[in-house]
Amino acid sequence: MNSADAPEQPSLTLEVEIERLLPGGVGLAHAQGLTLFVSLAAPGDIVRVQIDRVRGKVAFASTLEVIKPSPVRVEPPCPYFGRCGGCDFQQLNYETQLQAKVEIIRDCFHRIANIAELPEIAIHPSPKQWQYRARANWQFEPQTRHLGYFEAGSHRVCDVEVCAVLVPDLQNTLEDLRAQIRNDSFPGAAKNVEVVAGDEEVSLAPGWAGFETKNVSRRIGDETYHFSADAFFQVNHELIVSLVHEATRNARGTAAMDLYCGVGLFTVPLARCFERVVGVESNPTAARFAQLNLQNAQLESTKIITARVGEWLNGQSLESEAVDFLLLDPPRAGAENSVIKGILARHPRQISYVSCDPATLARDLKKLRAAGYFLDSVAAFDMFPQTHHVETVVRLRSEI
Ligand SMILES: C[S@@+](CC[C@H](N)C(=O)[O-])C[C@H]1O[C@@H](n2cnc3c(N)ncnc32)[C@H](O)[C@@H]1O
Repeated sequence: MNSADAPEQPSLTLEVEIERLLPGGVGLAHAQGLTLFVSLAAPGDIVRVQIDRVRGKVAFASTLEVIKPSPVRVEPPCPYFGRCGGCDFQQLNYETQLQAKVEIIRDCFHRIANIAELPEIAIHPSPKQWQYRARANWQFEPQTRHLGYFEAGSHRVCDVEVCAVLVPDLQNTLEDLRAQIRNDSFPGAAKNVEVVAGDEEVSLAPGWAGFETKNVSRRIGDETYHFSADAFFQVNHELIVSLVHEATRNARGTAAMDLYCGVGLFTVPLARCFERVVGVESNPTAARFAQLNLQNAQLESTKIITARVGEWLNGQSLESEAVDFLLLDPPRAGAENSVIKGILARHPRQISYVSCDPATLARDLKKLRAAGYFLDSVAAFDMFPQTHHVETVVRLRSEI
């Protein structure tokens, strides 16, 4: 952009009206020739904002004062809101949070995947809007002895005594660790602590004396899954049964593949419907749990491969791996090019794409659609209330 096009000196503070919420959870506003992305805003708010950064005609701003609150604005109950980087939707009533997430998905699918006509997107609300988070990642800062979450946009740690979205068992663990910090028994080397709650116990990694990394288990529908804090497990247990149902319903054929399979959350139900199932997972601990979970379910014929998905897909002969149904649930970055290439080479009739990032999902859908796949359905799951994050399941089919 020509620097002459950019506004020379935007005021440091501006009064703006928030038009709507965008992917990333920020509010959209326009003023002084700038497009503003305003954090922690509600659609319809009139706010005084402070410009934090300008890039061309785009400005990133934070709210200094709510001059006229939107009718959908609520008082955030958490005392750390605004400082802690964990929740960015507490200022919205729950109905607005849900609508905003559907809009975020639509926006990404239109803008990034060029999908003009979308099927209806139903969003499954979380049965619990608070105390739902059964997995967390806490930061410890040895200099300040703070334990909690990174502050928004920084690596300073917001010291958190009570986290309103944690399940009670994890809140108790947070209090136990804070007691260890007070009596100097907390290991200073543990700067990043993963915690996950099972049905009976909590697992924590890295472990230390008195807080070893335990194996825990959880009953989900008719299945039991074993896992630990070293392996991924879904955050919001209340929604897992419906997530698994949506991702695997009407799955047909003889052979299925579960890419990025973790501890086998989808592999176990797929193994009950298909003659042959292969799960692929790069974390050896998660892969071992997947094997154990299949063994306990007496589904030993299912193969779990410990490998990176792209490398494995492209290193296999295609003849031996005919596949009718393919499920993928990659991390936030989505599927690498090599993964999309490997999927297309196998040409599964049905694809089920489970994603925690609508933007990378849309990027990958664009490639799958260009190769002849049609969108059958899109369903959203509010796995992360009080944040802008959303889980999406897209079912695709090939008619070629
Ligand atoms: C979003 S989790 C999904 C796990 C599982 N489907 C579930 O719902 O519990 C993504 C998983 O992919 C694994 N992973 C990340 N990158 C990978 C790669 N390149 N190849 C294979 N697995 C990978 C992670 O270890 C993690 O278990």
